[in-house]
Amino acid sequence: MKILFIGDIVGGPGMDTVRRHLPKLRRAYKPDVIIANGENAASGKGLTRDDHDELLFAGVDVITMGNHTWDKREIFDFIEGSDALIRPANFSSDAPGRGRVTIRKEAGALTVINLHGRTFMPPHEDPFAMADRMVEEAAEESPLIFVDFHAEATSEKIAMGWHLDGRVSAVVGTHTHVQTADDRILPGGTAYLTDAGMTGPYDGILGMRKEEVLYRFKTNMPVRFTVPDGRTQLGGFFVEADPKSGKAVRCERILINDDHPFNG
Ligand SMILES: [Fe+2]
Ligand SMILES: [Fe+2]
Repeated sequence: MKILFIGDIVGGPGMDTVRRHLPKLRRAYKPDVIIANGENAASGKGLTRDDHDELLFAGVDVITMGNHTWDKREIFDFIEGSDALIRPANFSSDAPGRGRVTIRKEAGALTVINLHGRTFMPPHEDPFAMADRMVEEAAEESPLIFVDFHAEATSEKIAMGWHLDGRVSAVVGTHTHVQTADDRILPGGTAYLTDAGMTGPYDGILGMRKEEVLYRFKTNMPVRFTVPDGRTQLGGFFVEADPKSGKAVRCERILINDDHPFNG
């Protein structure tokens, strides 16, 4: 099974970038399943119903989230009704929505699990214990399991990669918005990447307008961050896994921008 993952989509420029590049990526990688992190799709914070619908229309099968899950209040109106949208599984058990979804394609059934880190982040439930529970339940259905671990610390993400090595097809990190260069298949057969990087403005700071972020750093004064127009990038991760064993056989990180053009 071929899986294409797209890192945190930031605002309108990120949505446009997905629409612009997805046809080429589909031709080049022929993914059976497309997963995208949508926590920043709505002007940098949260996900609206329109963003959700547009991503599905563009061909995305599963949308994962993160710390910005609840930033657009309208998500409360559609998170329970969407078959494609998941939020971190280790949020409070009182939180609406769910943390994993299984989708069935000709190539097999794939479970996507979303987890949230807790190092330099809010104290959610233990993501490692939750991963054990979710993976055990998912494995009853299919060995094909994909994990988006939304976390700040590279160490916590690498720890999750080793924690799940041999039990899932892939662990990819999101949230830091900067792609790391450590893509590999771990010895147990789990494809791993610490962070896929974001999809959105290329000349800002983590997808936000640089002048505003610089002003905050220099003055510590409150300022509203906005998403700038201009050049963009797409950060992603491609994984191919054996549907019988669930083990990854190939993985490749994807970074498209003017310095790294995509020629697929
Ligand atoms: Fe993000
Ligand atoms: Fe985040």
